[in-house]
Amino acid sequence: MSNRVVCITGGANGIGKSIVEQFAFQGDYVHFFDKDTEGGTELQKQLNKIGYRTEFHDIDVASFEEVKKGFQEIRNRHSTLDILVNNAGISTFISFWEMTPEDWGKILSTNLSSVFFCSREAAELMKGKGGSIINMASTRAQMSEPDTEAYSASKGGIASLTHSLAITLGEYRIRVNSISPGWIETGDYSALREVDHTQHPSQRVGKPEDIARFCRFLADPHNDFITGENISVDGGMTRKMIYEH
Ligand SMILES: NC(=O)c1ccc[n+]([C@@H]2O[C@H](COP(=O)([O-])OP(=O)(O)OC[C@H]3O[C@@H](n4cnc5c(N)ncnc54)[C@H](O)[C@@H]3O)[C@@H](O)[C@H]2O)c1
Repeated sequence: MSNRVVCITGGANGIGKSIVEQFAFQGDYVHFFDKDTEGGTELQKQLNKIGYRTEFHDIDVASFEEVKKGFQEIRNRHSTLDILVNNAGISTFISFWEMTPEDWGKILSTNLSSVFFCSREAAELMKGKGGSIINMASTRAQMSEPDTEAYSASKGGIASLTHSLAITLGEYRIRVNSISPGWIETGDYSALREVDHTQHPSQRVGKPEDIARFCRFLADPHNDFITGENISVDGGMTRKMIYEH
């Protein structure tokens, strides 16, 4: 498994950065989209300097025109695509009472509409030989804290969009799955408290590599009996019943 052409959105930081690294380390050619120009340019520079093959595209996935441009750039370079990871997202929580139509639109277009438009562009490049699309949902698709309406709706939308795409694209041998990460620490892991870890049935908070490894598993053609699923990678937190005593 190497030499595949991969596209990862939101690849400059956090979970996306780890996904870019893991696919690059196994020998794939990794295109990644991000609107963090500095972070994306720096990551491409670092990885390519040590022999990996990555290509940063300065693309805002909330813009349909920019998404089209990004996939045209991939088409110009490779005219094919094997794997798409729709990872870009904003975790913006806004008071139920203060949310404006602009706030709502920004969260939904960044987190959800982007998944539809990137998937359609990717499917054009995958048609004929098949491929794998992996969408980043969240355990917040299934459970909530207050004031998380737009984010939760966007992630619930991703879980539904995933099975819908899987059915439409099945005849093209394109599999579509989503991952619902729980708490994945993208900052200073060593600063976490003991209770942060021990409240998890897994006894630890998640790391970006946990999600990146699962992306590789879902993208592996040996696992081509899995499609249309949304799988939690959350250290067991959504299986834990919580009552206050
Ligand atoms: N970290 C967690 O605990 C967690 C839990 C559940 C789900 N998720 C999801 O995982 C994904 C990655 O999260 P993260 O924690 O690594 O976030 P992050 O903020 O560390 O990284 C997100 C990346 O996406 C990019 N991005 C944001 N909006 C963009 C846009 N419009 N166009 C292009 N790039 C854009 C950012 O610049 C950044 O590089 C998100 O979809 C998030 O909702 C994260």
